[in-house]
Amino acid sequence: MLKARDVTVRFGGVVAVGGMSIDVHAGEIVGLIGPNGAGKTTFINAVSGTYVPTQGTISWRDEDIVGHSPSRLARIGVGRTFQNVASLNDLTVLDVVKVGRSVHGHSRGLREFLCGSRADDEALTERLLEPLGLADHRHSPLQMLSYGHRKAVDIARALASEPDLLLLDEPVAGVAPAEAFALAGFVKQVRDLLGCAVVMVEHKMDVVMSTCDRVVVMAEGCKIFDGSGEAAQSDAEVRRVYLGD
Ligand SMILES: Nc1ncnc2c1ncn2[C@@H]1O[C@H](COP(=O)(O)OP(=O)(O)OP(=O)(O)O)[C@@H](O)[C@H]1O
Ligand SMILES: [Mg+2]
Repeated sequence: MLKARDVTVRFGGVVAVGGMSIDVHAGEIVGLIGPNGAGKTTFINAVSGTYVPTQGTISWRDEDIVGHSPSRLARIGVGRTFQNVASLNDLTVLDVVKVGRSVHGHSRGLREFLCGSRADDEALTERLLEPLGLADHRHSPLQMLSYGHRKAVDIARALASEPDLLLLDEPVAGVAPAEAFALAGFVKQVRDLLGCAVVMVEHKMDVVMSTCDRVVVMAEGCKIFDGSGEAAQSDAEVRRVYLGD
């Protein structure tokens, strides 16, 4: 579904991403891991249209998407969350999710899942906010919520846009362990039910290991490993640059 080849993103003299390639297939959850400054967020930003790569190609379902805006990408099924929670502070939880909903994707399965035949608010509350532990907060402004709940709202907002590819940038960073596993578990449940593909940047290895089907490791802007989580954990180079001995 997603095919990126030799993607390079430069900021002046800084090569943030240098020759990154990845394939993501329908229905798989890929963990994108690596040390701080490896280029993970920059790569996600390039795929989701925030940055235009200096070099390289990115295609989504065989369509060249380099230069597409984030909103255009959302409409064709590429949704994302943010490492630092976006500030829509005055809006209520339900309104933030509806902002996501206003950019319809293509996923018919997800649309049925979210709406059924009922009113939008009710369906969004039952299908997204309840499983993410947000139902009681649905009328609260975002600024009243804990950090963990705001991260959950960002996941709900991204899912509401009906993505076929969900890009998660550290969805559970700073979230307490029990909540983190619940958030990751819900993402996995949605994937199991609807078959969307997920790329998840995350430093918490226990969450990565329990959630992801495959792990891609980045270091200094490019890919140094692509394989199972178990194999990553025993790979000498991955241990040297990231997991550490
Ligand atoms: N807008 C920017 N301007 C200049 N340099 C940038 C910019 N964004 C990122 N960089 C640099 O690019 C490199 C990759 O950064 P990036 O944020 O993509 O790393 P990351 O893998 O997401 O790290 P972390 O795990 O800490 O989130 C870093 O050296 C960073 O300082
Ligand atoms: Mg990052």
